[in-house]
Amino acid sequence: MPEKRIVLRNCNAIKPNRISTYLAGGGFEALSKVRGMSPEQVIEEIKASGLRGRGGAGFPCGLKWELAKNSEGDGKYVICNADEGEVGTFKDRYILERDPFTLIEGMAIAGHAIGAESGYIYLRAEYHYLLDSLMKAIEQVRKRGFLEQFDIDIREGAGAYICGEESALMDSIEGKRGEVRYRPPFPPTKGLWGKPTIINNVETLMNIPQIILNGAAWFDQMGTERSKGTKVFSVSGDVERPGVYELMLGSSLRELVEDLAMAQRVKIVQVGGATGRIIPYSMLDTPLSFETVLGAGAITIFDESRDTIDIVYRTLEFLAEESCGKCAPCREGTEALVGILSKFSRGEGESRDIVVLEQLSQAMMLSSLCGLGQAAPIPVMDSLQHFRDDYENRIAEKMAVQ
Ligand SMILES: Cc1cc2nc3c(=O)[nH]c(=O)nc-3n(C[C@H](O)[C@H](O)[C@H](O)COP(=O)(O)O)c2cc1C
Repeated sequence: MPEKRIVLRNCNAIKPNRISTYLAGGGFEALSKVRGMSPEQVIEEIKASGLRGRGGAGFPCGLKWELAKNSEGDGKYVICNADEGEVGTFKDRYILERDPFTLIEGMAIAGHAIGAESGYIYLRAEYHYLLDSLMKAIEQVRKRGFLEQFDIDIREGAGAYICGEESALMDSIEGKRGEVRYRPPFPPTKGLWGKPTIINNVETLMNIPQIILNGAAWFDQMGTERSKGTKVFSVSGDVERPGVYELMLGSSLRELVEDLAMAQRVKIVQVGGATGRIIPYSMLDTPLSFETVLGAGAITIFDESRDTIDIVYRTLEFLAEESCGKCAPCREGTEALVGILSKFSRGEGESRDIVVLEQLSQAMMLSSLCGLGQAAPIPVMDSLQHFRDDYENRIAEKMAVQ
């Protein structure tokens, strides 16, 4: 299936430092349209489109906006999550570099919908080089008068993966150490500085102007029953053509990995980054959707030369390093998983370690405070499901040497 460019339609087509090139293609027409609509009408349109968040969790966008709109507060905020810390993701960077104007327009529409007068772009520390160009883009939009009712500022992260998690992100903007908050209350009721707040991923907001211009029905007919529209993927690893691809939701993993990225001798595809799924070659025809596998759109390909346990071990090392440490299941659990995986990596794993890996994973999934600890065991569990032989062979090799 060919690529379908909705989110990326302006990338490499407009000049990101010249608002006139954006305006020439209908830029800010969606914002002008919503100014003539009530917030309720805008929210109904987004709800009817079926748009779900592209930051990983897939929460319905219109519903989130409705919750924030209906929450009492003497100030409300729109936050664009441009932290993009997930391992193997670089699609938001691609967008920020090439089309900041659609994002700004999407945020301004969100502001109108929920009744917010200001918003923030939370920019990943490593994307500091984009700060200047984003500020200039905002300034150009301001000068054209499109930000009179809703203004945007930028806050930079300091390099913590956990600050991509929405509640830690808000702590970070508030100047605190980024740690996950207990919920409820959820951000649409009590978010940044205790005010109703919506937090959306860059890609989610990029869809908004097109939905407003083309209508909810146009968006709703694309994709699968519960996954509407397109998805932008960051593809890397053992492939000939790494890069950023936008496909209709429901396209198969094989189309992306073999047809577009031209991978060969595929062993594992990690879908969704460090906390994502481990997909074996035999499942390459899996459709990409919220119903199956998706996450934030990181697709990392490992060919037959790669060692499964090494991949999982390194992934868990990253997660243990990045755990914020607030809850014990994640803080202690990720370290314990690393300890056992390192035993396997050194060829010292034992049969009972597999049982511990499984039991610990279950406990972490049930009791961790946020998505990091809840999802950290996924690579472990998936690898045990699809590549159990790799673990058992390691144990058998050890026994043979003894
Ligand atoms: C550990 C962790 C890291 C996250 N990192 C990001 C991130 O870098 N970017 C992002 O958009 N969402 C990230 N999320 C998801 C956010 O918490 C939140 O669900 C998302 O920004 C909501 O936007 P959406 O509804 O548009 O997807 C992360 C979640 C967790 C648990």
